[in-house]
Amino acid sequence: LSQRYQDATNYTPESVQGHPGLDFRTQPAAFKTWHQARRVVLEGGPSRPRAPEPGPLDAARLGTLLYHTYGVTLVREFPGMSLRFRAAPSAGALYPAELYVAVRDLRGIPDGLFAYDARDHSLVVCWEGDFGPALERYAFGHPAVGQARAVLVGTGLYERSVWRYGARGYRRVLLDSGHVFGNAVLAAVPDGLRCVPLADFVDEGVQDLLLLDDRCEGVTLLAPVVEAHAPIGPAPAPRRAQVARGRGEPQDGAWIPALHRAGKLALDAPAAQEEARPVPGPAAVGATVPLASEPLAGGPGVLHAIRRRRSTRAYASTDVPREVLGRVLAHAHPRPGGPDPEADLAPGVLDTWVAVAGVKDLEPGIYRYDTGAHALVPVLRGSPRAVLHQCCLWQELGRDCAFAVLHTLDLAAGVRSHGERVYRTAHLQAGLVGQRLNLAALRLGYGASGIGGFFDDFLRALLRLGPDHAVVYVTTVGSPA
Ligand SMILES: Cc1cc2nc3c(=O)[nH]c(=O)nc-3n(C[C@H](O)[C@H](O)[C@H](O)COP(=O)(O)O)c2cc1C
Repeated sequence: LSQRYQDATNYTPESVQGHPGLDFRTQPAAFKTWHQARRVVLEGGPSRPRAPEPGPLDAARLGTLLYHTYGVTLVREFPGMSLRFRAAPSAGALYPAELYVAVRDLRGIPDGLFAYDARDHSLVVCWEGDFGPALERYAFGHPAVGQARAVLVGTGLYERSVWRYGARGYRRVLLDSGHVFGNAVLAAVPDGLRCVPLADFVDEGVQDLLLLDDRCEGVTLLAPVVEAHAPIGPAPAPRRAQVARGRGEPQDGAWIPALHRAGKLALDAPAAQEEARPVPGPAAVGATVPLASEPLAGGPGVLHAIRRRRSTRAYASTDVPREVLGRVLAHAHPRPGGPDPEADLAPGVLDTWVAVAGVKDLEPGIYRYDTGAHALVPVLRGSPRAVLHQCCLWQELGRDCAFAVLHTLDLAAGVRSHGERVYRTAHLQAGLVGQRLNLAALRLGYGASGIGGFFDDFLRALLRLGPDHAVVYVTTVGSPA
């Protein structure tokens, strides 16, 4: 199903030119309307800021974390409407991701399940009670959920993205959600916390706790928040979604719930079956290039970066130093033994490529990024500017960036090992890495923007990948114009 969905939602020059245009009268609201009167107003947002300070999770630290995960960081007024930009970027600024949090035993907030309302930086009471044991069970007994006083729950409300992108919107919902949780992982650190995103959970259990209608809204990620120094026991093994066959072709509009359901995990889901797979793409055309990996400074700098980040809208034609490329890649891709190994939702599932256009002391071309060795393997020589321009729907961001990081998925191998769930997890992971790329570039004085609009076949042809590989995401980096 993933493969058929991927094919059905390919962009081609014809499909893009034939887009009927947007009808703003039918645009879904960017925020849910909550009728509950009871809310908990949080600290740590724009009106009640606080300096981070390592310590146990409390209401103030949770407020800071939620604000830097998905708070409103900019309001732009237009005639008759306000557009609220959030801490995480979003394809088309449609914000299909929603954020909930289950809290227990936390000073200042009663035990319960809450929706985060970013408009006034408050928690809306959905249910009172301790949902920890239920969530721990639905997370296959993950020890971090068992010990967490807060568990973030991400969902995607499909219609917000479908309004503009049709069935392809699901890809953006997942990428966006990955960006949101990429923020959460990084924003937890200055307060001495650790946020552990989990892509494996029993869908129906969590969905029923939130009373979600799975035709409209699906759970994407869970993320227990624990104290950084507290040891966490071993994580359960990755699971495999059972094969769902013979359901026929979903009609347009029904693709998203069908694919989301096909990736569902039940309580008795078996372990994923990892298998060795060949290195994809063209053979090396030169010597492997080692990269700089000096880590970015810790501390509150990341919170500052999240508050002031915006996606770069145009790049200048200045080259970036090679050291920047190395540090951005090292920061963004978690490695076993690295600073955030838990930020890898799907170890070994994504393949990473770097299109180098303007990096000092590095020959322009396409490179395969060997994440384990933190090195670039050259696979194609020559400037990728013209081809990236075309592949990214002729967006100038593609033409003018200094380098672009491309993530691809071997769908056939992924479905064999993880079932249809792999489609979801790979997109969530690419979004999470995308957010780390964005923030690392920003913190080093450069700019970045995700690109969800690309011609799938052109990019696959560029990377010499077969039809069973999916291009998942493109992140561009460069000097802002
Ligand atoms: C998954 C994803 C895909 C995106 N795709 C594009 C794109 O194709 N072209 C573009 O100019 N911006 C793209 N963006 C950037 C958004 O337009 C931007 O995040 C949004 O307008 C909100 O602005 P901000 O990031 O500055 O807060 C993308 C962002 C995300 C998260």
